[in-house]
Amino acid sequence: RRQKLPDVNSVDDAVRLLQNAKNIIVLSGAGISTSCGIPDFRSSTGLYAQLQAEGKYELDDPQQMFDISYFREHPEVFYSFAKQIYPSNFVPSPCHRWIKLLEDRGVLLRNYTQNIDTLESLAGVNNVLQCHGSFKTASCLRCKTRHDGSKIEPYIMSQTIPYCETCREERNAEIAAIKAYRASVKGKGKGKASAWDDDSDDEEEIDEWGRGEPGIIKPDITFFGQALDSEFDECLFKDREDVDLLVIMGTSLKVAPVSEVLSHIPHSVPQIFINLTPVTHVKPDVLLLGDADSIVTNLSDRLGWTIPPPPSAPP
Ligand code: OAD
Repeated sequence: RRQKLPDVNSVDDAVRLLQNAKNIIVLSGAGISTSCGIPDFRSSTGLYAQLQAEGKYELDDPQQMFDISYFREHPEVFYSFAKQIYPSNFVPSPCHRWIKLLEDRGVLLRNYTQNIDTLESLAGVNNVLQCHGSFKTASCLRCKTRHDGSKIEPYIMSQTIPYCETCREERNAEIAAIKAYRASVKGKGKGKASAWDDDSDDEEEIDEWGRGEPGIIKPDITFFGQALDSEFDECLFKDREDVDLLVIMGTSLKVAPVSEVLSHIPHSVPQIFINLTPVTHVKPDVLLLGDADSIVTNLSDRLGWTIPPPPSAPP
């Protein structure tokens, strides 16, 4: 059973906890990016409600948009939508910059973010783990080749499916090998070559197979049904030894295994939860309900800390 800290329930308590902490884990979610113009997922104005209302994609459940089995069957659906969530010219919010402030003060153990918008990195946070991956890289579902994310950007923008060149090359090499083998068998006058016997139709069949689609490339964002990168477990295993304060911000904590971080760190570690709406299945030591940007700004004012300005736009 989790032991409640005495008299810890207000902004004053949050200030005190922050003042004394040396190794803070910040666990963040979509709610810290809504003020940047990026919708969260589960609010009434969130992405899932939007997908439901639009009814454009004929999904049984809006979460299917990020479901790996559905993606394998209907990659065109994700690629007609991906443009909407592709990180573009957003400016980090005060929350992202507050995480950077903690890092600059030397008290950020790590930021575990569920977000794929990379705004923490843009704010300059170095020690951030993107638990649900990002568009930075993309992998072929068939041959697993990892590509640079920039390769699929034009496909996302033009709403078309990217296919893997490595698969194509492999297949061409296989075709060339089969044809060479057939030619050599024929050349030796040995007649039929096992599976590739009646050669009149075979050439066409092989070419037809060669024209078949190679592997589909999927951005390395974690879909439902996919495991998180092992780095998540490794970091958590290490961090649980050192963490002395957990700050959770802008997340409904509905998606495992990130939602389970709370149960993996020692119960003696205090928790501050900053969120617009109550999340009833967790009982933090300090619950600060409201807009996260305003709350961290207020906390910083109280602590005499200054949130760094947004990074200047590239020339
Ligand atoms: P959710 O949409 O589930 O939760 C966002 C939370 O942020 C909600 O509880 C909102 O009330 C709160 N919120 C919104 N605006 C806020 C603000 N200005 N200040 C404070 N809080 C605010 O998003 P996540 O919990 O991040 O995964 O979702 C977790 C995962 O579910 C996502 O990473 C994504 C999704 O399916 C995948 O796609 C794999």
